[in-house]
Order: sequence, then structure tokens, then C-alpha cells
Amino acid sequence: MRKIEIKTQITVFETIEELPVLEKNLMNKAIEAKQSAYAPYSKFKVGAALLLEDGTIVTGNNQENAAYPSGMCAERVAIWKASSEFPNHKVLKLAISAGASTHITKEPVAPCGACRQTLSEYEIKQKEKIEVYFMGEVGQIIKTNSLLDLLPIAFDKSFL
Ligand code: THU
Repeated sequence: MRKIEIKTQITVFETIEELPVLEKNLMNKAIEAKQSAYAPYSKFKVGAALLLEDGTIVTGNNQENAAYPSGMCAERVAIWKASSEFPNHKVLKLAISAGASTHITKEPVAPCGACRQTLSEYEIKQKEKIEVYFMGEVGQIIKTNSLLDLLPIAFDKSFL
């Protein structure tokens, strides 16, 4: 028996103003996308913005459904939009902002497990890391250098 420690490095920015200009612009696109989320049931709006290698920004937001499991998260709306429209463009960065309607969300909101799994497929496919930046509505932003930093010991095609 042996124990293995797995470490993840994150970077914390105190506010959006601390982000470099490119990332600040990307986060602002995620914030903008969040406004038009369709979230009448949870009233929790999420916006995502992807920066592609040619500078294109693809956004997404959560889309809910009266049949609850038929809804979809912002991150997956964005990555599937990007992969269907620009299948050969690498994704360099992802910015996420989320907030509840009942209070101001100050803590960074991390992408859910299903979104991490979905996004990891594209990071592996493109053989280049995707930087992830996530925040609530205000306050700190957490950055990871890679999607797989958020999903250690992942399932991937090598098992098939
Ligand atoms: N949601 C996202 O859009 N992304 C996540 O990573 C977590 C959750 C959405 C799904 C649902 O519409 C609402 O937030 C509440 O769970």
C-alpha cells in the first residue's frame, strides 16, 4: 500500500480589476452572457465565455427546462456551441460567472462535475490546456491552469 498526494495549484485574483486585460474582457463577456440565462426555476444564472485561438469569443448560459434534467449548464452550452461551430479551433481560456437572484454571490462558483468531464474531453482532444477562471458575481476569481486540474484521476478514452 502506498499513498500518493495529488496537488493542484490555483491562482486567486481579489477582484476582476486584478485580471490581465484579455482575461478581464473574457470575464466581462461571461458576465454579459449570464444576464440572458434562461433560469426561471433555480433563478441561478451562469454565464460562460470561451476564448478560441483565433481570438473568437464564444459564450453560453444555462438553459433550464420544466422537465428539470432536460436543462443544461452554461459551460456545456458554450463548449458545444464552440465545438459545433469551430471544430478545429483550440480553446485557450474559459471564464465563468454565476449568481443567485436572492443574494449577491461573492464566492467563486466552480463548474459542476458533469461540465468538468465534458470540458476535459476537448482539452484532451486539442492537446493544449484550457485555463479556467471562475467567480460569483463580485469578489474573488479563481484560476486553474488546466481543466484537468479541476478533475484529477479523470475518465478518458484510454479506458475504452
Ligand atoms: N449550472 C451551470 O450552468 N453550471 C454549473 O457548473 C453548475 C450549475 C446551472 C444549472 C442550473 O440551471 C442552475 O445552475 C442551478 O443548478
